[in-house]
Amino acid sequence: MPRSGASLFLLPWKFSENVNEMAELKVQLASDAYPIEINHGCLRDCAEKIALLCPAAKYAVITDSTVAKLYASRLLAALDQAGLTAHMFPIQPGETRKNLATIGALAERLALAGFDRHDALIALGGGVVGDITGFLASIYMRGIPFVQVPTTLLAQVDSSIGGKTGVDIEAGKNLIGTFNQPKAVFIDPTTLQSLPTEEMQSGLAEVLKYGLIRDSVFFDYLIARREDIIHQDAAALTDSIAACCRIKAEVVMADEREGDLRRILNFGHTLGHAVEIASRYSLSHGFAVSIGMMAAARLSEHRRLLSAAEREKIHEALTAYQLPTEIPAELDRDRIRFYLKTDKKNVGGQPVFVLLRGIGQAEMHADVGEEEISALLARSK
Ligand code: NAD
Ligand code: GLY
Repeated sequence: MPRSGASLFLLPWKFSENVNEMAELKVQLASDAYPIEINHGCLRDCAEKIALLCPAAKYAVITDSTVAKLYASRLLAALDQAGLTAHMFPIQPGETRKNLATIGALAERLALAGFDRHDALIALGGGVVGDITGFLASIYMRGIPFVQVPTTLLAQVDSSIGGKTGVDIEAGKNLIGTFNQPKAVFIDPTTLQSLPTEEMQSGLAEVLKYGLIRDSVFFDYLIARREDIIHQDAAALTDSIAACCRIKAEVVMADEREGDLRRILNFGHTLGHAVEIASRYSLSHGFAVSIGMMAAARLSEHRRLLSAAEREKIHEALTAYQLPTEIPAELDRDRIRFYLKTDKKNVGGQPVFVLLRGIGQAEMHADVGEEEISALLARSK
């Protein structure tokens, strides 16, 4: 059972500005350890490190057709220069391809191309490519190693780290999957220059989430350096991505299999996920999470965990990043309520909300009642 109102213990750590354009972190798990390198331009020079950290006879670069056009040649050239054999396996972009059919088709293509247990996969793309590649790597020939090279902000700060892999089925998102940690994560923030604005904003909602759940100093930094971050100033972007990766790594190291603590990463996702599905995915994931984070902040204030001034500060920050804070009036509240009740993270049919005991400290609450939910779903005047 998730704890209700209990503070979750992690060693104190506060963000400090680095003003570097690179950072290296380590995820240290009981049975695994791997580095996360954040470095402008590392797409061009990660090949030798890939050979060292994930040695293989040959590499299959799994990517989507959009990312393939932009970045595959850069990575393939680097691998070739390092004397590594690599072949590209593009898929169609989009969440609708994150399914078992794509896994089956990729496995057939790998087998026909002669990939075996001496080989490895490289995920080059956003969270969809990363989740597919990690899952395929865990089951192809009973498991081969893989490396993450994330190219969306969401993938760089979240999905490439921590080993959650999987695909969607008709019954729901991410319902089939494994925990499978990569051998290394190479983050090249220059790839974000080609990212559509809405995808960037979607990632920024997750970036703000990390400050809110774990580090008030980082949250203040995100407010102060908003212009630089939005305009992709190299040092500000590297510092921000590194802070998120550090928080995510720290949470995963404490609770790899989401027994308890890892659930704090779902801040804003309980209502956000229900709103995202109820909108039939017309709202992007990050926008829905932003709405969910604001709702969780209001509920935290209602439960006297957060002050009105802190709630207002969160509202101002989300608004400054041009993220939505209200459930669109036209969205059917009964549908949202239905998806809240059927969320796979529920316990005993009861939604679990991550709330804030002040900015920078998150805790789980599994006792949110009908009245409080109705207040969250009420239309703003
Ligand atoms: P995505 O992978 O669909 O990428 C979004 C779009 O951006 C795609 O069209 C892609 O082709 C394009 N794109 C990628 N990189 C680009 C670049 N550099 N320039 C231009 N276009 C680029 O979506 P996402 O937001 O990266 O990931 C969402 C997925 O991640 C979801 O399936 C979600 O379930 C999953 N996820 C997984 C975890 C985890 O822990 N495993 C965590 C969060 C989210
Ligand atoms: N994105 C949530 C997690 O990795 O646990």
